[in-house]
Amino acid sequence: MPKIILSDKLNEKAVEVLKDAGFEVNVAWDLPKEELPHIIADYDAIIVRSATKVRGLLLEKAVNLKVIGRAGVGLDNIDLETTMQRGIKVVNTPAATTNSVAELALTMVLASTRDVVKGTCEIKGNPESYKTMKKELFSREIDGKTLGLIGTGRIGTSLAVKCKALGMGAIGYDKFAPENPVIDMKGSMEEILKNADYISLHLPLTSETKHMIGKDQFALMKPGTVLINCARGGIVNEEEAFEALQSGQLGHYCTDVFEKEPPAADNPLLKHEHVIISPHIGAQTAEGNMRASVQAAERVIEAFKEL
Ligand code: 3PG
Repeated sequence: MPKIILSDKLNEKAVEVLKDAGFEVNVAWDLPKEELPHIIADYDAIIVRSATKVRGLLLEKAVNLKVIGRAGVGLDNIDLETTMQRGIKVVNTPAATTNSVAELALTMVLASTRDVVKGTCEIKGNPESYKTMKKELFSREIDGKTLGLIGTGRIGTSLAVKCKALGMGAIGYDKFAPENPVIDMKGSMEEILKNADYISLHLPLTSETKHMIGKDQFALMKPGTVLINCARGGIVNEEEAFEALQSGQLGHYCTDVFEKEPPAADNPLLKHEHVIISPHIGAQTAEGNMRASVQAAERVIEAFKEL
């Protein structure tokens, strides 16, 4: 009977699926992460979200590990080079949380446009600012504006469908996918930067995408462009984003992710009135979590059948 440890919070249904398939399951999502290396040798498999870092000491001590399940998309919390060398299978759930992340990106489109976060903060901080805010928060409609997608995979496409239903146009660039049924694909990222009113990033963080959006890219954007990052923090150069916000070239930076998470308390983006922040919650919906948890369990079970 394979032994599996679940080290990050999943939907309980995943436990049921694994037990039904004959796995011995340790639900250890409340266990402090530093304890994991002491017990990991007992397990044939582990399922994580992004909180557990499967690398370094944990991987060294995981002498019996055969399968790692990632309930989610990004594999940047797993040392893939070492797992590959050791023949440990890594499986994830690439489609499970697509809609959840796309809905958060859509929230960013709408929240930045009407500046509801600024209004809320100001009025809560000083109820007397109500009238000033009513005058100041004069915005525009999203209808007729252009959404630019950098990365047009599942999430980018889902966001495009939603925004088009609200009257927006959608243009996109993706190095690996030159065609898309709902997005007007362009041949370069520059075309997106120059022509979009809202730019949403949907890419993994790699050596190629690190700091892909910095001062040269901000300079190409229309003044006041809204940049949405529900992908990975390191894709955007945060210092240069701050400068672009200060100059007004960037209208809003809406981000679910930071280069370092949690961000340092003195990160100037945290204080900027045109930054909208969510704490890496893109995939955190009841529905997305249920799909990711169950699919991760199923994929681990399949992986064991193939061993
Ligand atoms: C992912 O890569 O799936 C998302 O960034 C969500 O990660 P999470 O497991 O922290 O919700």
